[in-house]
Amino acid sequence: MRARYWAVIPAAGVGRRMGASVPKQYLDLAGRPVIEWSLGLFLEHPQISGVSIALDPGDRFWPRTAFADHSRVRRVDGGSERCHSVLNALDLLAQEADAADWVLVHDAARPCLRRDDLDRLLATLPDHPVGGLLGMPVRDTMKQAMEDGGIGRTVPRDTLWHAFTPQVFRLGLLRRALRTALDQDRLVTDDAAAVELLGLEPMLVEGHADNIKITRPEDLPLADFYLRQQGRLHRER
Ligand code: C5P
Repeated sequence: MRARYWAVIPAAGVGRRMGASVPKQYLDLAGRPVIEWSLGLFLEHPQISGVSIALDPGDRFWPRTAFADHSRVRRVDGGSERCHSVLNALDLLAQEADAADWVLVHDAARPCLRRDDLDRLLATLPDHPVGGLLGMPVRDTMKQAMEDGGIGRTVPRDTLWHAFTPQVFRLGLLRRALRTALDQDRLVTDDAAAVELLGLEPMLVEGHADNIKITRPEDLPLADFYLRQQGRLHRER
C-alpha cells in the first residue's frame, strides 16, 4: 500500500508573548483568524488525507472558525508544551493512519506557508529514510549571550539554519521519537529535535523567509503584507 500524507496542527498555545486576550492563532489576519490561513493550505491540498488538530481543552474560539466542522479535521486536547500537543494529535491520528504514513506537523501560528514550499518539501521525501523540514540558513552574525547580557562568543554561522515547519516524518517514527524524548524529560521545541535524539538526521529543505511564526504583535501586519504579496487575499476572500 502506498503511504498516505496527513497533517498535524499544534494549536494549543496561549501566546503569552503577544500580550493579547485572544490566543494568537485566533487573531484576525486579513479578515480571517490566523489558524484558517495555516490550516486551509492543507485542507486544499489533494495529497493530504486528513488533519489532526491539538487545541487547548478550554478553547472557546475554535467552534467559531470556518473549518470547525470540516469532515477531514479531527480535534484532540493539547498538552502543556508543544511536544505534548503534537504527541496527542499523533496518537489520535494513529487510529486511522498507518505507521508508515507521512505526517506533516505545522504550527497553527505560521499562516504564510507557500504552497510551492510545501510541494518542494513533499517532493524530497519519498526516498528519504528519515524525513525533513523547511528551514533557512541564518543571515546575521550569531552571538552567544552571557547571563549578564555580554557576548560570550561569536558562533560561526556557515552551518546554522532557522528551523521552520512543516516538519515531516513517518507517523511511527515520530511517535516513538517524541515518546522517547518525553520519557527522558527532554521538552523538545520542534519535532526534528526528538528525531535527532534517536541519532537520526532529518533533512533541511530551504524554504522562504515569509514562513514566519506569529510571536509578537508586530508580526501580524508583516503576515498581512506577505499574504498580499503572495496573491492569497485576492483569491481566498
Ligand atoms: O509558542 P510557540 O510559538 O512556540 O508555539 C508553536 C505552536 O505550537 C503554536 O501553533 C502553538 O499553538 C502550539 N502549541 C501547542 N501546545 C502548547 C504550546 C504551543 O499546540 N502547549
